[in-house]
Amino acid sequence: MKQYVIHGGKPLSGEVFISGAKNAAASILPGAMLINGICQISNVPRISDVKLTIEIMERLGARVKYIDAETIEVDGRAVQPGTVPQELGSQMRASHFFIGSMLGRFGRAHVSLPGGCGLGARPIDQHLKGFAQMGACNRIEDGMLQVSIPGSQTDEESGNEGKGKLKGARIRFDMVTVGATMNLMLAAALAKGTTVLENAAREPHIVDLAGFLNAMGGDVSGAGTNTITINGVSSLKGGEYRLIPDQIETGTYMAAAAAAGGDVSLKGVIPQHMEYISSVLSAMGMEIEEGSDFIVVRKSNRLKGTDITTMPYPGFPTDMQPQIAAVLCLAEGRSTVRESIWEDRFRYAEQLCRMGADIKVEGRVAVIEGVSKLYGAEVEAYDLRAGAALVIAALAAVGTTKIKHVNYIERGYHDMVGKLSRLGADIYVEE
Ligand code: EPU
Repeated sequence: MKQYVIHGGKPLSGEVFISGAKNAAASILPGAMLINGICQISNVPRISDVKLTIEIMERLGARVKYIDAETIEVDGRAVQPGTVPQELGSQMRASHFFIGSMLGRFGRAHVSLPGGCGLGARPIDQHLKGFAQMGACNRIEDGMLQVSIPGSQTDEESGNEGKGKLKGARIRFDMVTVGATMNLMLAAALAKGTTVLENAAREPHIVDLAGFLNAMGGDVSGAGTNTITINGVSSLKGGEYRLIPDQIETGTYMAAAAAAGGDVSLKGVIPQHMEYISSVLSAMGMEIEEGSDFIVVRKSNRLKGTDITTMPYPGFPTDMQPQIAAVLCLAEGRSTVRESIWEDRFRYAEQLCRMGADIKVEGRVAVIEGVSKLYGAEVEAYDLRAGAALVIAALAAVGTTKIKHVNYIERGYHDMVGKLSRLGADIYVEE
């Protein structure tokens, strides 16, 4: 089994180039399946979730090739309304975006129930409610989800393209959900008429999906606000699109510098996406300097503890919660971290405690008493961001840490070991 070995205690310094956003790629690559033509998508992160997404796209008939290390060309002309099988779909959460795109293009989708990091219950009722309002029915059987417009299943040969179309609808989500917002945007892009999504999520990757659909000939407005309007078009024509940089990868390296100390320049970022994270780190005592597409972070003194509550964008992102908790373990005084999105996102706390942290978790709140040192230990990553938190703690710890199950980390971080090594960390992979 692969593990990361980290000899901690070395401050970080230098530049790190941020990759394209995982959670933008998660919906935009399935979105390319809506196009009966060719598109090029650049700044695609080289992470295992993307590899799996491409495998699913190919299984459904798309031709996908790399033009360069981070640009893919997707030819969607031969896509058929096939099945996303369990052996692929159940390995990640984002497989559910193939429901929106296949349903939008062909009037039906047959997709394995999604998997993904275990963060507690992850229902998709809001996605299904939206599809139903647009005229689709759904059925779950043997771990597979069939969503279709009644009558469209009979047309096996032509794939029903252009025949059974979803109908535009006004859909109000019961809670702010990133996944359902994006899935309904995908489904509505080719629907008949106008779809309005109310109480929509506002994350940067939602704005990115709208940018992609519009660049391909779609008509989406309001992304980034809580009401998104999608006027269905008869077809998407193809084109070129560049993904935004990853907000959470940026925040993770900021947190790494906050824990280990040093002076790190993050390149190719969008500082506005980082506003909340930057303001928290700055209030804790980090020096932060911003340019048009870079952020420099410096830490010279011990940071102060703080209180954080995760919220949908523009609030503090849940996907940065474990990483900031790792930083707070070494900050002065008592901190609290409240998780308002996921019911079970503190499983990493026990692992940090093995390294000397003082964290007490009660329900959705973690109380952290800052300690002056963490110590290397053998620990396990339970999910993607938990794994990132352990790396951050290990960089700051005295001694050697070995992190198991790093396959979780590699789902969402491109070349974390290489990027940290170039910043001066003593980290390597042991098979
Ligand atoms: N929810 C429902 N019903 C639904 C959909 C969501 O009850 O139909 C609930 C969820 O259980 C949760 C809340 O609504 O309590 C928010 O869920 P959301 O739909 O926003 O999350 P998601 O789309 O499943 C994405 C990211 C997560 C990230 C969340 C929140 C992807 C592939 N995943 O998940 O990313 O935590 O949004 O920002 O885009 C990660 O990258 O580490 C990660 C877990």
